[in-house]
Amino acid sequence: MDVHKDTGSGTKIIRLDAADIDQSAIQLAGQLIRSGELVAFPTETVYGLGADALRAEASRKIYAAKGRPSDNPLIVHIYCMEDVYKITAYVPESARKLAGAFWPGPLTMVLAKNERVPYETTGGLDTVAVRMPASPIALALIRESGGYIAAPSANVSGRPSPTLAGHVYEDLKGKIPLILDGGEVGVGIESTIVDLTEDIPMVLRPGAITRSMLSEVLGEVRLDPGIREGSAQCRPKAPGMKYKHYAPKAELFIVEGTSEQIIKKINELTREKILSGKKVGIIATLESAGYYEQGEVLSVGERSREETIAHNLYKILREFDQSDVDIIYSESFLTPQMGTAIMNRLFKAAGYQMIKAI
Ligand code: TXA
Ligand code: MG
Repeated sequence: MDVHKDTGSGTKIIRLDAADIDQSAIQLAGQLIRSGELVAFPTETVYGLGADALRAEASRKIYAAKGRPSDNPLIVHIYCMEDVYKITAYVPESARKLAGAFWPGPLTMVLAKNERVPYETTGGLDTVAVRMPASPIALALIRESGGYIAAPSANVSGRPSPTLAGHVYEDLKGKIPLILDGGEVGVGIESTIVDLTEDIPMVLRPGAITRSMLSEVLGEVRLDPGIREGSAQCRPKAPGMKYKHYAPKAELFIVEGTSEQIIKKINELTREKILSGKKVGIIATLESAGYYEQGEVLSVGERSREETIAHNLYKILREFDQSDVDIIYSESFLTPQMGTAIMNRLFKAAGYQMIKAI
């Protein structure tokens, strides 16, 4: 077993290969979860901080380690479809259809819970969010742990979700016994959450499985009005969506307009700020990075391959936290499929601060 024990902090990191999973590492991690401890593990979206979902005191530990408000419910991760029936009161036809189309994968369904799921896991709600992740490491761990792992993203509350084991270590070293390191995650932003407890399914958090992909399977699907851009009037239904998440240390502004307008505006703003003695960071793309004259320019991905932007977004936000920039200007990324999800995360990171480049 390739173990790197960090003696200073007490948090062990075990590197795993998804194509050839070391079973002894999974057994160790499963044993920790079954005994009520926390283990961080990779999923295809972001790293999760796992605990036994059916034990109230294990879920409580998650809130303590993350500094998470206790009204913010956790997602229960399962490894096989039969297990949905064991923790819910009712599984509608829509859930079976979506599972057939998208599980295992980056989709979470909100369903009516049964008495096996403690209110500590659901933040006091009578519903439970359920997801079957695609990562083979995650699936092996869930199975070994008894079938139900409650796992929020493995960051300290208010920090960007971790896409690398190193991000988890940065946030949670000394607070948890074990991190399973499966390398960099694939998707890079959290799963789509869809509420199936009302007549018409509603997206509570946009993600890689888009509303139109859900509509192809279910027909009409709504988007929670509480999560539309900058909407402060309306309370989102997923309790976690109301918090200003993912906030970088520097002040972040999103600049909107056409590509040329954005580049021109960011160059102007950067010039001004640098003259007044500030350090400026710029979130650009591969296509635009060369057009910025000053500032610390980081490319988040390729505009023509939008999944690369989702994949790198949180990593870039963390990189700017490591540098000493005072202010960050980001391009906006209203790309065709994942644009809603990407902009939802970016708007929250920016506390909805937007500049129109017109
Ligand atoms: O991709 C993901 O979903 C990752 C990985 C680890 O699986 N997990 C994740 O968990 O993003 P977390 O805790 O960071 O976000 C969970 C979101 C929160 O916004 C929470 O309010 C919402 O899910 N949620 C959980 N249970 C809910 C429920 N019963 N009703 C409505 N929203 C719920
Ligand atoms: Mg989170």
